[in-house]
Amino acid sequence: MNQIFNGFYKKTPQERLEILHKLGWSKIRLDLTDETGLEEVQSIDDIQLPNLVADQMIENYVFNYQLPLGVAVNFIVNDIPYSVPMAVEEPSVIAAASNGAKKVGNIKAKMLKRETIGQIVLPNVEKPMLIQDIINSNEQELMEIAKAASENMVKRGGGPRKIWTQTFEGDSGAFVTTYISFDPCEAMGANALNTVLENVAPRIATLTDHEPLMSILSNYATEAIVTARCEIPIISLDKDAMLAEEIAHNIALASEYAQIDPYRATTHNKGIMNGIDAVLIATGNDWRAVEAGVHAYASRSGVYRGLSKWKIDHSTNELVGEIELPLQLATVGGTISVHPTAQWALDLLHQPTANELAEIVASVGLAQNFAAIRALVTEGIQKGHMALQARSLALQVGADLTEVDEVVKKLRESGIMNSTKAKEILSLLRGK
Ligand code: MEV
Repeated sequence: MNQIFNGFYKKTPQERLEILHKLGWSKIRLDLTDETGLEEVQSIDDIQLPNLVADQMIENYVFNYQLPLGVAVNFIVNDIPYSVPMAVEEPSVIAAASNGAKKVGNIKAKMLKRETIGQIVLPNVEKPMLIQDIINSNEQELMEIAKAASENMVKRGGGPRKIWTQTFEGDSGAFVTTYISFDPCEAMGANALNTVLENVAPRIATLTDHEPLMSILSNYATEAIVTARCEIPIISLDKDAMLAEEIAHNIALASEYAQIDPYRATTHNKGIMNGIDAVLIATGNDWRAVEAGVHAYASRSGVYRGLSKWKIDHSTNELVGEIELPLQLATVGGTISVHPTAQWALDLLHQPTANELAEIVASVGLAQNFAAIRALVTEGIQKGHMALQARSLALQVGADLTEVDEVVKKLRESGIMNSTKAKEILSLLRGK
């Protein structure tokens, strides 16, 4: 499989799309006349978000914002090969993900459970224990109301799962919160769960004689945890066995350090989110919700820590990477169902279930993290970044497509990567 993607980065966008089409992973055919008529095909125009649809999606719509959409190759997750759609503006992200994926090999990922949590908050509670008791002893009735408010989800095998309560002491007094966990099937479940909460809240108000402050889902998705793990033979890290040992050792040190210094942990996790957000955007998922939940999860011990860990397994001579994070994702509903690019992206991922999508996304985060810290503890980040940044600089200073390669080459030779140098090179090229 990997052979098909050798030199993928050197091909034209058209050639890349043809490869994906031949694999049966993308319906886009550029030459629509060259068709047998047997298969369903799409043109690039078919997967753009129509203005009329976009106008229905948000208030005060004017036009679509565009981001480059690329494909990270070489991924194998739970023995299945994937090309991963990523919408991102940062030049090195897809290159790093693809390189990382090649090195880490088969990633074993598992979504442990997939429930969304919502909360109904009562403020100014004078007798919190009593109020908790009242809510807890009426759990069954509240559960029935919750089920009735999510009938369709219940029919599909999802719906409310558990109700529990907790008291928080604030400056203004006690807050008593009722939590409801909810299985949203393949959707993210925000609307369905918010409806449930807003239906249960009035009954809680009556039972407790307290008016709820708010009823809303939580993005701290502790009931939607995904883990991903890879095992890299240390010997594969470099041709020089001594150097390979040193790289593995330094990756493990970098991982240890990201557990203890929040300044580093933040950047470590930003690198992970580079890959994760790009897939979430491409697949129409709510990346703000995931960002909020992931960073809260990174702080769950009271200290903000790296989401991934890398350790050397001396018994197998492998570098073992693990990541654990909350990913409440969806493959239906909201933007996903109406955005044709998101549909194309899901096609490319073989129309995964929400669990499978979360497993792929966690794996992308792990591979992305490997690529970043490997670069950091070896050649440094700038070499790779700068090579890719040269193209953006050339375009930024106005080079046209026939000039870009030459400007990039001269920028790299000069070793100076800034727009002044790019302008100077372009002027010289144009004989000015
Ligand atoms: C840059 O966008 C991401 C990195 O800084 C991540 C990291 O430092 O681990 C390279």
